[in-house]
Amino acid sequence: MAPDSSDPELRISASSIRLRKGGVPVVCLTAYTYPVARLLDDHVDLLLVGDSVAMVLHGHKTTLGASLEMMIAHGQAVMRGSARACVVVDMPAGSYEATPRQAVASARRIVNETGCQAVKLEGGVTVARQIAAIVAAGIPVMGHIGLQPQSVESDGGYRIKGRTEENVAALYRDARAVEKAGAFSVVIEGTVETVAADLTRHISIPTIGIGASGDCDGQILVIDDMVGLTVDRVPKFVKQYADLRSVISQAAASYAAEVRSRTFPGPNHVFSAAAEQGQRMSWDKE
Ligand code: KIV
Repeated sequence: MAPDSSDPELRISASSIRLRKGGVPVVCLTAYTYPVARLLDDHVDLLLVGDSVAMVLHGHKTTLGASLEMMIAHGQAVMRGSARACVVVDMPAGSYEATPRQAVASARRIVNETGCQAVKLEGGVTVARQIAAIVAAGIPVMGHIGLQPQSVESDGGYRIKGRTEENVAALYRDARAVEKAGAFSVVIEGTVETVAADLTRHISIPTIGIGASGDCDGQILVIDDMVGLTVDRVPKFVKQYADLRSVISQAAASYAAEVRSRTFPGPNHVFSAAAEQGQRMSWDKE
């Protein structure tokens, strides 16, 4: 049966995630579609409709391929497929950086059109005013510091953060700025382990690590990476818990062989004339 995705009472709220600082680790995964959200909802605390959707599902080279419309469509699907997880939708590049007013307008659109619990945006000191304005408008915000995929082109690639003194100091400034602006939690991505662990001890909001540290207050992975569906590069920090590429490829090979040999469809996969004579004949598998 489909979950009752419309009952806000069933949902884990952003404020209850905020209270998980230093407690049982917060389990987060990305999700982009209705069926995957349905599968994950029982197991996670938080589903992120990440702008990684542009790469993972739409085949763009970077997350810069995500648009507000794309994020809203996937946010709606994930909300329909989940009933208890806190759903956070990423604000795509270009939808918030210009001014706090632009950020609030985009965040309002995402929340109004999807019903999600919170939005996430990338950056620290440079977007603190945007975070504060969205929070003041009543919308919970998740921050994202360290490696920021929306900046990989301007950064010259996927570079691990926290390897120079200057960069470590910038990470602390960013973490404090996001905390002070009122974010309920912050993703720390692609950051030296000891730095991510120390940042976690220094701020009062939960840190959610990805390629960061086991000491973070929670962890997140891109769902397609962790189930072995990603076709292009998989980052070192990913642990693959399943190999769905092999499963799908073997299924496709078996199907192709059976169609070519006329083994599929078999007698169980066609409709007999019996139904027309009044016998029960279900469309669905029984
Ligand atoms: O877009 C995304 O999937 C993300 C996670 C990697 C945290 O931002």
